[in-house]
Amino acid sequence: MAAYPVPKNLSYLWNFGSLAGIALVVQIVTGVFLAMHYTPHVDYAFDSVERIMRDVRYGWLIRYTHAMSFWGATVITNLFSAVPVVGENIVRWLWGGFAVDNPTLNSEVKARYRTHLSVLFGEGLHNIRVVLHFLYLFVFYAPNYLGHPDNYIEANPMVTPEHIVPEWYFLPFYAMLRSIPDKLLGVATMFGSIAVWFLLPVLDRSAVKSGAETQGGVVRQKWKFSGIFGSFDRSAIQRGYQVYKEVCSSCHSMSRIAFRNLRDVGFSEEEVKAIASSYSVSDGPNEAGEMFERPGMPADYFPNPFPNKEAAAASNNGAYPPDLSLIIKARHNGADYVYSLLTGYEGSEPDEGGLYLNRHFPGGKIAMAPPLF
Ligand code: HEC
Repeated sequence: MAAYPVPKNLSYLWNFGSLAGIALVVQIVTGVFLAMHYTPHVDYAFDSVERIMRDVRYGWLIRYTHAMSFWGATVITNLFSAVPVVGENIVRWLWGGFAVDNPTLNSEVKARYRTHLSVLFGEGLHNIRVVLHFLYLFVFYAPNYLGHPDNYIEANPMVTPEHIVPEWYFLPFYAMLRSIPDKLLGVATMFGSIAVWFLLPVLDRSAVKSGAETQGGVVRQKWKFSGIFGSFDRSAIQRGYQVYKEVCSSCHSMSRIAFRNLRDVGFSEEEVKAIASSYSVSDGPNEAGEMFERPGMPADYFPNPFPNKEAAAASNNGAYPPDLSLIIKARHNGADYVYSLLTGYEGSEPDEGGLYLNRHFPGGKIAMAPPLF
């Protein structure tokens, strides 16, 4: 089960989609029934809600299930006043006056229906029972637990309640608004803190969600060269070259790298010459029209271990060992992936198809025998 690859986007966040969907349906259904009895008028709204609570059959149930707040409406609509230049006008237009007033109450009832309905059809619904159980624990046993006494005082648009504070789950946003003196910056920060989630798909490109120890995921390393301030550890690269030469080069080519490139990773000119001349490279044709072998020179490229891809595949269980010149750049998660691949073998015996179990190789089986021990 732990090795089962799970799509990256399948996370607990999925629950919020269905939760939002459930909340939406609950609000729509209760809203429809409330609208039958609610009077959207500044003088009657408060009384009509109390009448719903006491006189309408199961009105208390519907009202407790449906969230509504005069001051909530005030705060939310007021956010528009942060828009430069025209902000105040937008708010006045939304309110239809200088405070949440009759036109607001009227148009909000209608507007809510339109938005609720348009969102509804994009939602899937799961786990409804669990959530509804939870919701009705409050509705039946502690309906006012999450409410506020100010909601039982008829609203006076001229007097903002002294202790009106958002619910705890809004407090981070409230903190952003309050701690930034400039209104527009505050609102921009607040919405930015929500919009930042939309960057997640860009920031996290891994196709699978499962962590380091599962198929396809990689074991993250702290490379000295990562990040914009990183730098290459030359002695580590030289040791890496040693490993390539003694192990990997019997199967893998590195044909885009010349011996002279070893200067860049700290080998001296003499060392480069010595390394180059330890290889035999093919050159030609000579005057007789024949190819010949000679010792390598710094300008030569690393010779291939096999004459062609077919020969390489033929000696490797049908799989061609890719050229390693660009392998870090040619794979997602680059160095982390190669590290994971080389250390990700499960056992060193091949299966009946000649493949080795490696949880980091796509498909879980690779034709390369564990090269390192
Ligand atoms: C005995 C031959 C052999 C040796 C030695 C060998 N490899 Fe491989 N390697 C292969 C083969 C064959 C493949 C292709 C595997 C496949 O496609 O199933 C491969 C594939 C790879 C891949 C690519 C995996 C991918 O995502 O496509 C990397 C990276 C790699 N080897 C690194 C190394 C390194 C580093 C070394 C030395 C430490 C090494 N190999 C030694 C045969 C070898």
